[in-house]
Amino acid sequence: MNYLAIKHLHMTAAVLSILFFVIRAYWSVTCSNKLQLRLVKTLPHVIDTVLLLAGITLAAMIGPEQPWILAKIVALIAYIGVGTIAIKRGKTPKARGIAALVAVAIFAYIVGVAMNHHPLSWLA
Ligand code: HEM
Repeated sequence: MNYLAIKHLHMTAAVLSILFFVIRAYWSVTCSNKLQLRLVKTLPHVIDTVLLLAGITLAAMIGPEQPWILAKIVALIAYIGVGTIAIKRGKTPKARGIAALVAVAIFAYIVGVAMNHHPLSWLA
């Protein structure tokens, strides 16, 4: 697969990732039992794995030793950590809702980093 194809795969996975996250976060805040559906539990992991693997492949192709790529990796870890509070670990609906908003903000930061190739994201 060439660079552009992998980049499109990466971007498609990014869109699906945030879409699924927002839907699951909504179900988490409203205490819906749809979160327990098998597909709802597994599909996000498949999408996020594709997102990460495609990102790592792109990084390897253009040379990974760039501050903005490091910033994306660190922010991705934060997105996952805060995301698990929003979906699972948050004790109250309010805590899960706040964590969901923080996770969406981190995601928006990552997209800005990707587009501007700069750790300052949208401010660069
Ligand atoms: C939630 C996580 C991520 C999101 C939302 C995301 C989003 C994006 C988007 C939207 C682009 C296209 C930017 C553009 O050219 O307009 C992109 C490109 C890219 N991403 Fe990610 N990404 C994520 C994680 C990662 C990770 C973890 C890595 C590296 C390990 C990575 C490496 C790259 C690289 C190398 C490009 C290509 C940049 C270019 O050719 O201009 N991404 N990403």
